[in-house]
Amino acid sequence: MTEVLAVAASARRGGNSDAVLESALDVLRERGVKVETIIPRDLAISPCLSCNGCWDTGVCVQRDAMQELYVRFCEVDHVVVASPIYFTSLPGHFKVLIDRFQCFWARTYRLGRPPQPRRTGMFLCVGAMDRERYYGCARTIVKAWMSTLNMGCPVTRFYPGVDAKDDLVCNHPEYLEDARRAALELLEGA
Ligand SMILES: Cc1cc2nc3c(=O)[nH]c(=O)nc-3n(C[C@H](O)[C@H](O)[C@H](O)COP(=O)(O)O)c2cc1C
Repeated sequence: MTEVLAVAASARRGGNSDAVLESALDVLRERGVKVETIIPRDLAISPCLSCNGCWDTGVCVQRDAMQELYVRFCEVDHVVVASPIYFTSLPGHFKVLIDRFQCFWARTYRLGRPPQPRRTGMFLCVGAMDRERYYGCARTIVKAWMSTLNMGCPVTRFYPGVDAKDDLVCNHPEYLEDARRAALELLEGA
């Protein structure tokens, strides 16, 4: 059975990025995909200490919720991220999680270990502003993070002009439909 790990990256529950995420995940569930969602805001994850402890071992010196997540991120077939833009970047809780994958970077680039099997991910992004250029930074970070998992990110979407919590659902039903199409693209190996 295909497995997807979804990241609901917003600090706000039930908002715009959650709406597009659920729309995409509905399609996956309809097609028999097993979906698990994690919410970085609700997890006890400490920031990377930049201690370089992982450089010789490939293992993070810190012990927290990440241990289980490292395993899950390696097991699943796809990772689906839905995030708002915060100051042209990603919400802090999610960025903390991303930084903790420095030990995966160390495994590959310092220790020369073989990469994880090649897989794919998807990035759905919402923001208040209308300009697509404000989303490039977040997309670059997500792609760089996924590449440490040897994961391509062939499906990315930006849904602009949504700010209030129910903006997307009330004013942009076309975004929900597009998120469904994006999920299909992921499954079909875009
Ligand atoms: C701390 C913070 C910073 C933000 N910075 C930006 C920004 O730089 N560009 C932008 O377009 N929207 C920005 N926004 C607006 C959110 O991206 C927007 O409200 C989005 O729809 C929230 O998604 P959510 O409902 O999933 O949390 C920011 C919101 C917050 C809370």
